[in-house]
Amino acid sequence: DRQNRQVAVFGAGYIGLVTSACLAELGHRVVLRDIDPEKVRILLAGDVPIYEPGLGDMIARNKERLRFTLDLDEALEGAEVAYVCVDTPPSVSGDADLSRVWSVVRSLAGAAHLRAVVVKSTVPVGTGARARAALDEAGLTGTGYVSNPEFTAEGRAVSDFMNPDRIVIGSDDPAAAALVAGLHEGIDAPVVTMDVRSAEMVKLASNALLATRISFANEIATLCENTGADAMEVLGAVGLDHRLGPHFLRPGIGWGGSCFPKDSEALRQSASNTGFHPMLLSAVIDVNNIQKRRAVQKLKDVLGDLAGREIALLGMAFKPGTDDMREAPSTVLASRLAAEGAHVRCWDPLARQGEAEPWLSATRYASPDEALDGADAAVVVTEWPQLKDVDWARAAAAMRRPVLFDGRNLLDPVRMRELGFTYMSVGRP
Ligand code: UDX
Repeated sequence: DRQNRQVAVFGAGYIGLVTSACLAELGHRVVLRDIDPEKVRILLAGDVPIYEPGLGDMIARNKERLRFTLDLDEALEGAEVAYVCVDTPPSVSGDADLSRVWSVVRSLAGAAHLRAVVVKSTVPVGTGARARAALDEAGLTGTGYVSNPEFTAEGRAVSDFMNPDRIVIGSDDPAAAALVAGLHEGIDAPVVTMDVRSAEMVKLASNALLATRISFANEIATLCENTGADAMEVLGAVGLDHRLGPHFLRPGIGWGGSCFPKDSEALRQSASNTGFHPMLLSAVIDVNNIQKRRAVQKLKDVLGDLAGREIALLGMAFKPGTDDMREAPSTVLASRLAAEGAHVRCWDPLARQGEAEPWLSATRYASPDEALDGADAAVVVTEWPQLKDVDWARAAAAMRRPVLFDGRNLLDPVRMRELGFTYMSVGRP
């Protein structure tokens, strides 16, 4: 029965949890294995160790088909397919650190009953070839290797998985490719099959192009500031060209998150490793690094020296709808402000504090109002919808100086100025 496969998933992070829940939802029997006892304990207790809308419900309604374990043998027993969903964080050199991938691949030795090993983690091109060799060495010569990159965005990962734009399957083993494609039966999306290296590159190229569009929008926004044009009008009209489309053209305070910064840097480094300097990709990364620092300069333009100033950062997570602080622009901003001698206060409804070192010197408040009271200036860092509902008239009176840099163009410039704010935003006159 194509809808009742036995699948082992390795890694209970964002990708592994979502993959496990969705494969169970599609009718397969899934055992999710992680080496972190705390994560497995949380899952066994019926909770979810990350914030992701819809995930908890999906896990709960599929509990007949979804198990969690620390035990390798339990995960592999009877498994036809093994999914590698571990993280590939940046190493010191900027290349992806694949040690967790290799540790999972090595742990599969002896599981020659596996028909396919699927890597969903984002990996450099060529990883599949090395994995193939490692599987052969481990005696899994009859097991097919499949690269099946994941394109889900945080905060909407469950619906992205169930309604993808495409399913990319890279393999040189037609039977394994067909088996993995078959696991997705019930999902209405084109399945694109190709060689392993190309599939690995699709993921990196997709993320790099999305990041390119945002850096481009940010550069146009700066040009608009310098010329008096309105970037929101400009990019809105640019996006109406059907050849370009409206998505990922929102100027802001820079892109962050668990994927774009890490994957673009890893792609750049892998190019450098072969002596090739990818100029466009490098510029995309540079523009983003500068974008995150422009907020500090804008505050200095108004306040002068920032030493001793109270600066409120509204939003810490790298985007709304997530608790994820990885590579959040807020962390760069907080550490730059601290270096200028400012006192940083912050608010975020979800962000997991303690993960990023700069917050050690920032004070966190339970509401935007409390962070704003007595502040010399505030920055909208993450476009949480709650920030639209702040009583900004009250805030203007309660701040020491009503200075606001809206890094996400969330608020209405005319209204904010009427309320007495020295209001700055991105690319708007
Ligand atoms: C991204 C990709 O969208 C996803 O396909 C991939 O699998 C993982 O990386 P994610 O990191 O969850 O997903 O966030 P996304 O919603 O894409 O936003 C990335 C960053 O770009 C955020 O910091 C966001 O604020 C910023 N962004 C996005 C902009 O500044 N402007 C835009 O127009 C869009």
